[in-house]
Amino acid sequence: MNNPASFPRDFVWGAATSAYQIEGSPLADGAGISNWHHFTHLQNGKILNDDTGDKACDHFHRFPEDVAHMQTMGLKAYRLSLAWSRIMPEGRGPINSKGLDFYKRLLDQLNRAGIVPYVTLHHWDMPLAIDHLGGWAHRDSAHWFSDYAAATLTQLGDRVTHWATFNEPWVIVHAGYIEGAHPPGISDVLKARDAAHNLLRGHGLAVQAFRAEGRGQMGIVINLEPKYKGSERPEDLAATARMDAWMNRQFLDPLFLGHDPLELEEIHGAGLPPYPEADYVLIQEPIDYLGINYYSRSVVRDAPGLAPFHADRIPQETAPHTDMDWEIYPDGLKHCLLWVKERYGDIPLYITENGAAFDDGAPIDERVRDPRRIDYLRSHLLAAREAMAAGVDLRGYFAWSLLDNFEWAYGYAKRFGLIHVDYDTQTRTLKDSALFYREVIDSDGQALWR
Ligand code: FCB
Repeated sequence: MNNPASFPRDFVWGAATSAYQIEGSPLADGAGISNWHHFTHLQNGKILNDDTGDKACDHFHRFPEDVAHMQTMGLKAYRLSLAWSRIMPEGRGPINSKGLDFYKRLLDQLNRAGIVPYVTLHHWDMPLAIDHLGGWAHRDSAHWFSDYAAATLTQLGDRVTHWATFNEPWVIVHAGYIEGAHPPGISDVLKARDAAHNLLRGHGLAVQAFRAEGRGQMGIVINLEPKYKGSERPEDLAATARMDAWMNRQFLDPLFLGHDPLELEEIHGAGLPPYPEADYVLIQEPIDYLGINYYSRSVVRDAPGLAPFHADRIPQETAPHTDMDWEIYPDGLKHCLLWVKERYGDIPLYITENGAAFDDGAPIDERVRDPRRIDYLRSHLLAAREAMAAGVDLRGYFAWSLLDNFEWAYGYAKRFGLIHVDYDTQTRTLKDSALFYREVIDSDGQALWR
């Protein structure tokens, strides 16, 4: 940390993926049907081009090659998620040992390669059977999840030391229960309220299970998008606070402060029955680290007609954007790291996702020139380093994503990978950004300043 133009020697340089987005073969070896398998096969117009995760990157078969690419890139760590439906096909009940074996092979391969696995228990794909019972809106879902978590921690605990309960519970709630763009595909603010609360309870129970039988570290991954006021008008300030509460504080306040943000009442309606106090004690079960996913920011204004948030994003037309139409705003990363430290204290942090979708075309002479992705990585890593210089305890960074992959409602149309995937032939090509990232890793970050 003494050299302001480098990162600490033990900084964890990684890349991230998730199960449904890359694995393919979703029903292999006795796996159950997942909510995402079901949702994509409804072909209901909610997924671009009716794409599915049936093949994805065929990582299920090609993981040895993918781990070899990680080694070439010099990755110290790899963040992946487990498909609950491979491990417990019905969501509850007996373990499917063949499903688990896939993860044992993958984790062994990573450990042999000296790449530390950071494993997320739930990154959005869950057994459909659980969804049919009521999904996250059902109070028992917290127990279904923690039973799965406890069994998995026991089975894989000799291979994994770095765990996370959930990836981005906000997206599960917002895209699944408000927008209806993800499973279960509904729009119901009250169910969204219960889902958010039950996800947090499930997290607390899983942390307790981990303390009882796990070793290493347990955390959670939260996506943050700093909200900036559109003007000084009181209505815009209130709208900004509301969106900040909904997206950024809805999960962090209960986790670290033991209560829900007050502004949520403006969204759900005041006067709803409170949840039991004991729930908030459970949710505050101490964790070892917080994972932050950061992509963009938004500037907010009041929008009285737009239920349930009555707020809107002000487009930043002159600013650069990625193919997701997300504004590129590296300072937002610094701001949210500093904000987390200030509001919640000195919890060890990782950036568990950060990256950009750009279509850079097919490889030419086995090369993909993606200078915009390199700029994105560089500017965000420099912003993160500034936050560290200001005292933020940032331990590592995971680029999203290792591979181009199935980008949920956008199907295969958006390419976030450091590695290009030709979906017809499954050929992998390291993009220039992957080679740049290797230099960054090799030089403890110094290549960022060159
Ligand atoms: C995050 C998700 C990840 C990927 C990126 C682009 O919200 O966690 O799976 O879709 O966005």
